[in-house]
Amino acid sequence: MAPSLRFLLFLSATLFFMQTLTEAATCSDCFIHSRAAYYPNSDENGTDTGRCGYGSFGATLNGGDVAAASDLYRDGVGCGACYQVKCTNSYYCTDNGVTIVITDQGSSDNTDFILSRRAFGRMAQTTDAAASLLALGVVDIEYRRVSCSYPYKNITIKIDENSNYPYYLGFVIWYQQGRSDITAVQLCETQNFVCKLLDRSYGSVWTTTSPPSGPLSLRMLFSDENGDETWVVPVNNIPNDWKAGETYDTGVQVNL
Ligand SMILES: *[C@@H]1O[C@H](CO)[C@@H](O)[C@H](O)[C@H]1NC(C)=O
Ligand SMILES: *[C@@H]1O[C@H](CO)[C@@H](O)[C@H](O)[C@H]1NC(C)=O
Repeated sequence: MAPSLRFLLFLSATLFFMQTLTEAATCSDCFIHSRAAYYPNSDENGTDTGRCGYGSFGATLNGGDVAAASDLYRDGVGCGACYQVKCTNSYYCTDNGVTIVITDQGSSDNTDFILSRRAFGRMAQTTDAAASLLALGVVDIEYRRVSCSYPYKNITIKIDENSNYPYYLGFVIWYQQGRSDITAVQLCETQNFVCKLLDRSYGSVWTTTSPPSGPLSLRMLFSDENGDETWVVPVNNIPNDWKAGETYDTGVQVNL
C-alpha cells in the first residue's frame, strides 16, 4: 500500500473514532445504569415533606409516580424534572418502566432514586413481579431524562403558607413541563417594569422580601442541557392582592 493511502486510511479511522466519542459524550437520550430503592414507610405515593417543597402536592403529583433524587437533586434545580426509570431484570421488569417526577432528595445504598412504592411496582410486568421487586428492596435500573407532560395543566404558582403580604412572598412552581430546568425566576411590575430576581430558598421554593407591588408579571428562565436559555413570560399575572396559600394559573404550558 502506498504510504499516502495508508495515512489517509489512518486519518479517516481516527476521525471516525473521534466522531464516535463525541456522539457518546452528547448522547442525551441514552440510558444510564444505576440503582433504585423505594420509600420504606410510604403508603403508595411519595412523601408530604419532600425536599423540593411541594408539600402534599408532591406526594400525589403524576398519579403518585414520584421519587427522591440523590445527585440529580442538584441543589434543588432538579426538582420537577422527569425521568424514565426501568429496572433491568428481564424476568420481572417491563421494557418501558415508569416515568417519575423528582419531588424530594435522598439516597440509599448507592441509589440515584428512591421511588414511591407505587412507581417502584409499576416497573414490574405483573402484580406478582411487583411483589418480588418490592421484596428485593433495591434493584438495578437504567434511567434517562424525559420531557414532563401534564396535558390538562398550565404551569401554576402556589403561594407559600408562610408568605406575609406585602412584605414576604414565597411560592413553588407546579406542573413544570418539558425537559428544561427552571434556573431563575423574576417578578416584574407591570407598570414601570421594575423587576426583582427571586432567591431559590430551597428545592422549588422561590422567595423574596419586599416583592414589587401591583399585578406581578412572572418571568421564568428555562435552561436546557445544551446551555440554551429561554425566558418564558406567562400571559396571566399574579394579582396585586395575592394571598398566602392560594394557587394562580399562569395560563401557559411550556415544552422546552
Ligand atoms: C395516591 O395518589 C393517588 C393519585 O393522586 C390517589 O388517588 C390515591 O388516593 C393516593 N393514595 C394514597 C394511599 O394516599
Ligand atoms: C390554561 O391557560 C389557558 C389560557 O392561556 C386557558 O384557556 C386554559 O383554560 C388553561 N387550562 C387549564 C387546564 O386551566
